[in-house]
Amino acid sequence: MKIDLPRVDLIQRPTPIHRLPRLSEELGVDLWIKRDDLTGFAFGGNKGRKLEFLIAQALAERAEVVVTCGSAQSNFVRQLGAACACFGLRCVAATMYLPHEPEMGKPEEAFAHDRSGNLFLDDLVGVVVRIFPDDSWDKLFEHAEDLAVAEEHAGRRVYRVPVGGSSPLGAYSFVEAASELQPFPAFDTLVSPSSSGSTLAGLAYALHGTSTRVVGISCDPEPENLDDLVRLTAGLDALLGLSKRMDRASFDLRFDFVGPGYGVPSSAGDAATTRLARREGLFLDPVYSAKAFAGLLALFEAGDIGGRILFWHTGGLPALLANRA
Ligand SMILES: Cc1ncc(COP(=O)(O)O)c(C=O)c1O
Repeated sequence: MKIDLPRVDLIQRPTPIHRLPRLSEELGVDLWIKRDDLTGFAFGGNKGRKLEFLIAQALAERAEVVVTCGSAQSNFVRQLGAACACFGLRCVAATMYLPHEPEMGKPEEAFAHDRSGNLFLDDLVGVVVRIFPDDSWDKLFEHAEDLAVAEEHAGRRVYRVPVGGSSPLGAYSFVEAASELQPFPAFDTLVSPSSSGSTLAGLAYALHGTSTRVVGISCDPEPENLDDLVRLTAGLDALLGLSKRMDRASFDLRFDFVGPGYGVPSSAGDAATTRLARREGLFLDPVYSAKAFAGLLALFEAGDIGGRILFWHTGGLPALLANRA
C-alpha cells in the first residue's frame, strides 16, 4: 500500500512505540502508546505526517501562499505555519476561538483570548492568523475562501488546505504510518482521537480486514464526521487503485467523550491527563488526546476493549499550556 508521491522531509520516523508499565499493571491490561507527539517537527504531533505530502503538492503547484482554517488553538495551523516558513511560503489562517454547529449550541468559552499556547507559536513562525467572531464551521470555511480570494487579488498563487489537512493525501500519510506497527506483534485494539478525520481514516484503511480493531474517539459532536471518513477512504481507494469501499459501518467512531463540545476540555479528559502524567510522566492535550485517552479508559472499564491495546498519541501539547478562560 505504498506509492511514490512527492514529499518533503519534515518529521522523524518511525515514532517510538512503548509499553505503559505502571498503568498496565494498575488496570490489568497490556497498554502501549504510539508517540506521534514525538514526530519532532514544530512541537510534534500528527499533522507533520500529512504536511510532508501537502507542502510538496503546494510547491509542485508553485504556490506562494497557503490558506487554511481552524480553531484559534489549532495544532494544524501551528505545524502548517512552521512548514510554510521552512519552504518560503506565506501562511494565512482563518480562525475562530470556538467554531461550532449553531443547532447544537455554542459551548462555554474554554481558552483565554490571548496569544498563549499555539497562538504564541503561530506568531513565532510568522503565520498570518485572522480571528473571526465565533460562528459555524461553514462560516469559517467561507472566511478562509474569502482570504484565499483576497490573496489571489493581491497577485499571489494560492494553495488551499482543508481543515486539519484532511484530504486523501493527508489520510495517505497515516496509511503509511500504520506500517510502523509491523515490527510489533499485532495489537488487538488501536485507539486514536479523531476530528477532521484523515488520521483515523488512514489508520482504519490500512488495518481494515486485519485482527487489529481501530476505535476512533471523536472530539467533535457531529455524527456527519462518519461521512468524512467514508469520503476520505474512497479517496484513498482512488489514490491507491484499490477498492476497499469502506462505508459508515466500517468505522468504530465513538461520540460519547466529546464533553462540553469541540475545542472545550472535558473533566474526564482533564482527569485522564493527570492520571497519565502522574503514572507515566507523559502529557496529553485537552482538546484531542486527553478525550481519546479518557475514552480508552472508559471503554476498557466497560469491557468493550481489551487485550493488547495501543493508544495513538497525536500530540497537541502546546494547547495544554494555553491559558484557560
Ligand atoms: C493533537 C491532535 N490530535 C488529533 C487530531 C485529530 O486528527 P484529524 O484531524 O486527522 O482527525 C488533531 C487535529 O485536529 C490534533 O491536533
